[in-house]
Amino acid sequence: MILSLTLLALIVLVSLWLVLEPLRALAPTDPDAAERDRLTAERDRLYAELAALEDEKRRPDLERRAALILRALDALPPAPRRGRTRTLALAGIAAAGLLTVAGALTFVPRWQLASLNPGEAQNVRNVLALPDLRRRAETSRDKTAYLAWGKAAFDSGQYDQAVTAYGNALKLDPRQPEALRRLGILLLTRPEQTGQTPKPEDAAQAFLLIRTAAQLAPNDPESQLLLGFALARFGQDTDALTALERYRTLDPSGRDADELITAIRARQNETDPGLRVYAASCASCHGPTGGGGLGPSLRVSTLTRAALRDIILHGQGAMPAFPNLKPAELKALLDVLERWQKAGQ
Ligand code: HEC
Repeated sequence: MILSLTLLALIVLVSLWLVLEPLRALAPTDPDAAERDRLTAERDRLYAELAALEDEKRRPDLERRAALILRALDALPPAPRRGRTRTLALAGIAAAGLLTVAGALTFVPRWQLASLNPGEAQNVRNVLALPDLRRRAETSRDKTAYLAWGKAAFDSGQYDQAVTAYGNALKLDPRQPEALRRLGILLLTRPEQTGQTPKPEDAAQAFLLIRTAAQLAPNDPESQLLLGFALARFGQDTDALTALERYRTLDPSGRDADELITAIRARQNETDPGLRVYAASCASCHGPTGGGGLGPSLRVSTLTRAALRDIILHGQGAMPAFPNLKPAELKALLDVLERWQKAGQ
């Protein structure tokens, strides 16, 4: 920190010196100034005359006189460089000023964008692009244009615009998973965010949109994520968990379902003692809903209830034994495992 501050101070000082030094060093006045000016004026006059010459016979004479003047100019001691350095210094200051202004106009917003995280930066870009995307959609009335507008609006949290855009996209083609599920989730959650209670028939309609999207594009992580959200809202916790787990399988880096998964599990564990035991003893290895992890998937297991019980009580290979489960706990746990075997993955 101190080092960089010192460095900065040094750079500022050196720059100041570079700019001010030539200005400060006012050279002594030029003793040949008058003669130099006279010769320069004469030279320029001869050049002008030569340039506009009509009578070619006069050219040799003019050229000879110009040559003499040039030689006389060369013979004068060199002029002090004050004028030039001063121009240079002024040019330097002007350039620095320009750079600062240009920098403020071009680099700074980028730099500001760079200091946002990628998601926020994308948001800013999305918001900036919205009016343009909207105009394009409304003039072309094209489904991809509506979709692009909807996406930018949705991703930047401009939900009213997103509803309009996706709604129009669906009017043109109702089989668009992204538009379906996003419109669905907005219809489902918007009224609450604005302090209204959603009408049951609207909610049912919204749910239908989300489910249709999941059927059209089941391997799209967002399909499963939004389906999970919708199912959880309608109290279908088990199905919701399945969808959310699926979302995490499809998008292993996706963290959007974590909170809801935890909440649903806590809810389930309260009501189902088997799930409580599973969460406490098994989930760490076999996955939160038995889908597998370090240990194999228990959902695809074809073991009988007796075989399951045997493995749990005695262990097997890397799987530890759980001899201390109470009979009621073991029974409830086996019920859960059998339910999962029936449900499959
Ligand atoms: C420390 C990790 C770990 C824990 C905790 C654990 N398991 Fe396992 N489990 C395994 C591993 C590894 C296997 C595979 C063992 C083998 O066959 O080598 C396995 C296998 C199984 C199998 C046999 C699956 C099949 O189809 O072959 C069942 C059933 C099972 N575990 C149930 C449970 C239950 C129920 C619990 C909680 C009471 C539990 N496990 C806790 C790691 C674990």
